[in-house]
Amino acid sequence: MGIYFNEVTHEYPSYTKKTYKAIQNISLKIEKENEFIALIGHTGSGKSTLAKHMNALIFPTSGSLDIFGNHITQKRDKKIKYNSIRKNVGLVFQFPEYQLFEETVEKDIMFGPLNFKVPLEEAKKKAKEALSLVGLDESYLKRNPFNLSGGEKKRVSIAGILAIDPDVLVLDEPTSGLDPAGRDTLMELFLDIHNKTKKSIIIITHDMDLVYKYFNRALVLKDGELSFDGTPDDLFRSDVLEHNHLDYPNTIKTLKYLKEELKLDIDIYKKNIDEVIKEISRVTSNE
Ligand SMILES: Nc1ncnc2c1ncn2[C@@H]1O[C@H](COP(=O)(O)OP(=O)(O)OP(=O)(O)O)[C@@H](O)[C@H]1O
Ligand SMILES: [Mg+2]
Repeated sequence: MGIYFNEVTHEYPSYTKKTYKAIQNISLKIEKENEFIALIGHTGSGKSTLAKHMNALIFPTSGSLDIFGNHITQKRDKKIKYNSIRKNVGLVFQFPEYQLFEETVEKDIMFGPLNFKVPLEEAKKKAKEALSLVGLDESYLKRNPFNLSGGEKKRVSIAGILAIDPDVLVLDEPTSGLDPAGRDTLMELFLDIHNKTKKSIIIITHDMDLVYKYFNRALVLKDGELSFDGTPDDLFRSDVLEHNHLDYPNTIKTLKYLKEELKLDIDIYKKNIDEVIKEISRVTSNE
């Protein structure tokens, strides 16, 4: 059980006569549990379009999906309960403005639980809990979401999805616009949810340091096509990134520089700053 893409193509209508293929012929299996996936690719490569298919927010123009046993094709099907798919797969949008619409933060976060028939008092409790998970205190509950900063809006939209407690989480650039400390705290939260519940989590990001440090699977989109599906370890040891005009993690870039410029016999594949320091001390103490 999970989210299965079967030769999915999505074409947007275009001002010119031709339609525009945002994703092409994607076949892909994401299981319900044990996956912590980074979805990467340059701007316009189709990441958000792919993500929107994962809870049937949009439909393929050809191909099909199986989302938690629901067969999704080109058209809306009356027999399918789309609302229950939203409980299976929670999607946090790239731009929180599109997700927030109530006049208070509390109402916004409670919207999902209430929609899934959670009683009011319990929904209030869930809103408080979710808000604290994303690092905002209770004073935010009565505030108008539209008056918040970009980073705060992002956190509130994430809280709204966490409050639904979906089986799988899909987050479209959840850490963009946050300061480094906020970014790390949120990543630790997602990792913690994943480790405790085994729920699969898919995160769209441009940050290769995060991809290397946290994830167990990476998907790379290039011009709407899937150009890589494997572990970050294999990705960063391959030449896929160069072909996609994507960057390497800072740890690898730094160690590669030291290896080439200073001719040090270094293992460049280190995931975090502690490992980098250890490797540099190892090599320099041998000198
Ligand atoms: N509603 C739409 N109508 C027409 N074209 C669209 C629409 N949404 C996206 N596109 C086009 O489809 C392509 C893929 O867009 P998408 O938003 O999926 O890319 P992305 O990888 O998420 O990019 P980014 O990193 O900038 O968020 C882009 O060329 C975009 O211009
Ligand atoms: Mg996008």
